[in-house]
Amino acid sequence: MNRNLIIKDAAELVTVSGYAAKKGKEMSSLNVIHNGSLVIENGIITRIGKTDDVLDGLETSRFVVIDAKGKSVLPGFIDPHTHFIFAGYRAYEFSWHLSGISYMEIMKRGGGIKNSVSETRKATLDELINLGKHRLDSMLSMGMTTIEGKSGYGLDYDTEIRQLKAMSILNNTHPVDIVSTFMGAHAIPEEFKDNPDGFIDYLIAHVLPDVVKSGLAEFCDVFCEEGVFTVKQSRCLLESAQALGLKAKVHADELTSSGGSRLAVELMAISADHLLYISDDDIDRIARSNVVATLLPLTAFCLKEPYARARYMIDKGCAIALATDFNPGSCFSESIPLVFALATIYMGMTPEETVCAMTLNAASAIDRAKTLGSLDIGKIGDAVILEFPSYIYIPYHTGVNSVEKVIKKGKIVVDKLLNKENL
Ligand code: NIG
Ligand code: FE
Repeated sequence: MNRNLIIKDAAELVTVSGYAAKKGKEMSSLNVIHNGSLVIENGIITRIGKTDDVLDGLETSRFVVIDAKGKSVLPGFIDPHTHFIFAGYRAYEFSWHLSGISYMEIMKRGGGIKNSVSETRKATLDELINLGKHRLDSMLSMGMTTIEGKSGYGLDYDTEIRQLKAMSILNNTHPVDIVSTFMGAHAIPEEFKDNPDGFIDYLIAHVLPDVVKSGLAEFCDVFCEEGVFTVKQSRCLLESAQALGLKAKVHADELTSSGGSRLAVELMAISADHLLYISDDDIDRIARSNVVATLLPLTAFCLKEPYARARYMIDKGCAIALATDFNPGSCFSESIPLVFALATIYMGMTPEETVCAMTLNAASAIDRAKTLGSLDIGKIGDAVILEFPSYIYIPYHTGVNSVEKVIKKGKIVVDKLLNKENL
């Protein structure tokens, strides 16, 4: 397979450039090269710069060449928080929600995550793979080249492992790369409804060891929230996971200020996610730490909750990543263009900060900043080519997919122009 590619003469090459999350003010510097070219050899970026310099002395016959005149080229987008492997839908719950019933109230009435759990428990491995593939195709068409995916719709040994296996198989067969997270502590299952401590013990004793042994997950996440898992229970699970070599993530301060982000800092988690209700003090703690604050505007939008205070967090020096939170309940949307629109229009983020949050900082939120998230020599050749000359068209073309081509490891995997020609 030819993974040698030249992207030639782009109106702008948005390199983002860096090997760690950018914090605060640094998020604004994208390092844009005008009239730039990029060379990918065997899937790895080998040259980048002004077109004349890059192409000087290069034997181009062994390359696929894309003329990117008038286009903007960015690193492939990364979605560092999704729950994309599940069966069943909860459209009717969303209608209840639209009529004014809260997410937590729906959960108390027996809906919510538990509903998806019973459907997912019934699904076979092949069914989960097929559902996942369809969703990945849609994500890829919007420029996502790597995503994180969580288990957590099984809450029992067999189904949690099956969800993780589905992700592992998709990772090997689909162009989108998948980083897997074990999220057995996503809700308290019926079997343990009066004994959440017992459920945490069960996960630690019976599920976690095999998740680690099989190499099916790299991260462990927990829904640390009033009415779900306490800080103490979350700490207990995450410390056990870390002791076995998994890295920690926390669903934190999503519906109340419940101490989740403080726990993330204490445990040196890779990311703290949601943060709609994080306190000022906890924002300072995140800013002083290496924890990436992963914000999920689509969830706030769908739940009609206030958006996370991105502007304030950036001004305080936090590293912000953005993600979709794609899931069957609180946010059934994988729309990167809409994330971009909400971040810029409602959360006070500039287009530059938003690009950084979806590329390098998103890579850092899944511990991939050394190999992904920017167009730097030596990094994996994942890129998107927009149909417009600048990234500032993304929020301007509000909520619409502006991605014309997607490059994964030096190979063109989406080409909107080609599809048009084939009609
Ligand atoms: O990130 N917060 C917990 N988990 C998801 C919701 C999952 C669901 O409702 O199925 C979230 O919002
Ligand atoms: Fe989530």
